[in-house]
Amino acid sequence: MSKKIILDCDPGHDDAVAILLAVGNPNIDLLGVTTVGGNQSLDKVTYNARAVLEKAHATDVPVHAGCDRPLVRKQEVAASIHGETGLDGVELPEPSRPLEAGHAVNWIIDTIMSNEPGTITLVPTGPLTNIAMAARMEPRIVERVKEVVLMGGGYHVGNWSAVAEFNIKVDPEAAHIVFNEAWPITMVGLDLTHQALCTPEVQQRIEGVGTDLAKFVSGLMDFFRKTYQDNQDFIDPPVHDPCTVAYLIDPSVMTTRRCPVDVEIHGDLTLGMTVADLRGPEPSAEECHTQVAVKLDFNKFWDLVTDAIKTIG
Ligand code: BDR
Ligand code: CA
Repeated sequence: MSKKIILDCDPGHDDAVAILLAVGNPNIDLLGVTTVGGNQSLDKVTYNARAVLEKAHATDVPVHAGCDRPLVRKQEVAASIHGETGLDGVELPEPSRPLEAGHAVNWIIDTIMSNEPGTITLVPTGPLTNIAMAARMEPRIVERVKEVVLMGGGYHVGNWSAVAEFNIKVDPEAAHIVFNEAWPITMVGLDLTHQALCTPEVQQRIEGVGTDLAKFVSGLMDFFRKTYQDNQDFIDPPVHDPCTVAYLIDPSVMTTRRCPVDVEIHGDLTLGMTVADLRGPEPSAEECHTQVAVKLDFNKFWDLVTDAIKTIG
């Protein structure tokens, strides 16, 4: 049985890889892609999502545009990492499928409410604005969602400040709402995603698939490598967002640790920090609805990504 997911994203080089992994793996049923202002403006990331689906021959997947700015704060984009278009470094195909008319938040709510309870997984890989709005507009979605597997935060490290990660830092109030709802949450944060490095060997394997799509992904990685080298002092770029989808395909791709997590929304120095209480003993799933991702199986992860690119063709 494949897992039904809604991918809420802001493509973004690594969001693009998350889309490809969801499209190309038979264990994932990608019901739709929703977009949120994040790495770039809403218009740009929405176009990118549609173009990536076009590139993946996945024009059966609907795209709905969501919130164009954070709940409270001014928008801050990540052009230093993803460029002016949000997907700099590659040529995008013209999307043939029109953007859906409805707002992403309404579509998320309608989809969850019209499917069997416990069957839909939310996979946010951008700021949590749409998901927070959905939970406030229709609180019953919280108990109907199977789980939320999100890329964001980190329990030991930040990237947009010393202690905060981009997706959480740019809309901390939305993240605060999402983490404080009772749904099961897996936080796939920087502690894990900094292990998902696209090394030259990995990139060569991807290129070895030999398709136009493989070349496209390699082009994305070239740009991502350069901006991560220039701005974050990395040698190889960490490909954050597909780690969420990989976990849903095969949970053994990572180890997790259950612990309470909350989001700092008051601190001057710590705004957007995901504060994880890792003091033992580890709580049970009944006692605690949040867990954090700890250790990645590097080879398993990149096998899944490479296989998906192969499968798409
Ligand atoms: C996250 O921020 C974005 O730039 C990436 O797409 C990823 O979702 C990493 O901090
Ligand atoms: Ca993202």
